[in-house]
Amino acid sequence: MQAKVFGRSDKLKNYVSASVLSADMLNLGSEIRKLENNGIDMLHFDVMDGIFVNNITFGLPILEQVRKSSDITLDVHLMINEPAKYIKRFADAGADIISFHIESDSKAIDTLNAIRECGIRPAIAIKPATPAEAVFELLPYLDMVLVMTVEPGFGGQPFIPETVDKIRTIRSKITDLGLNVNVEVDGGINGETSAVVRKAGANVLVSGSFLFNAEDMAAAAYALKDERIC
Ligand code: DX5
Ligand code: ZN
Repeated sequence: MQAKVFGRSDKLKNYVSASVLSADMLNLGSEIRKLENNGIDMLHFDVMDGIFVNNITFGLPILEQVRKSSDITLDVHLMINEPAKYIKRFADAGADIISFHIESDSKAIDTLNAIRECGIRPAIAIKPATPAEAVFELLPYLDMVLVMTVEPGFGGQPFIPETVDKIRTIRSKITDLGLNVNVEVDGGINGETSAVVRKAGANVLVSGSFLFNAEDMAAAAYALKDERIC
């Protein structure tokens, strides 16, 4: 079975992407089964190189194993320098969506094209201090913008409220241009902040600690996607 990824002309809907950073890595297989059985749409895979951010996580060999064991949509978030160099390898390892940072040292348009040439979905990520306008000219080439709602590097940080205006600005620019671009948010998303970001225009919600610490993961996912708080 093929992973269910949003198509370019699909009507936008809300998705939950579970950040594997908060999973029990020694039992990753059963953690993935749990995501599949609890209505989680995507698995968010945070790759950190210890240079672009002050942390090191996991990479290609783990992604390959995850791909072999699941059809879930793999939403890869590269927090690395020189992302262009690694696009093909992450695509071959099974990524369905690749986000890379506009603040990294690869040329954005070339990197986006490289992702598209691999037949997968390109997305650009922006840190909290980067203005909304930085992505405007790239919007026609994107399937998704990832607005970081914490400083990239670690799970479990508090949501930065100043990022809400930026989500709103990006969503309204997408609407003005008549485009069909998804807006993803990442960091500090829980039952309360999810309502705020959805209202501002985000439709793909990454969640690590809130989802994995929830007693009832399905109810937590439901709370993230809809208006209800579990
Ligand atoms: C931070 C990562 C996030 C993080 C989210 O750099 O990109 O994906 O794991 O975790 P929570 O939901 O715990 O803030
Ligand atoms: Zn992330």
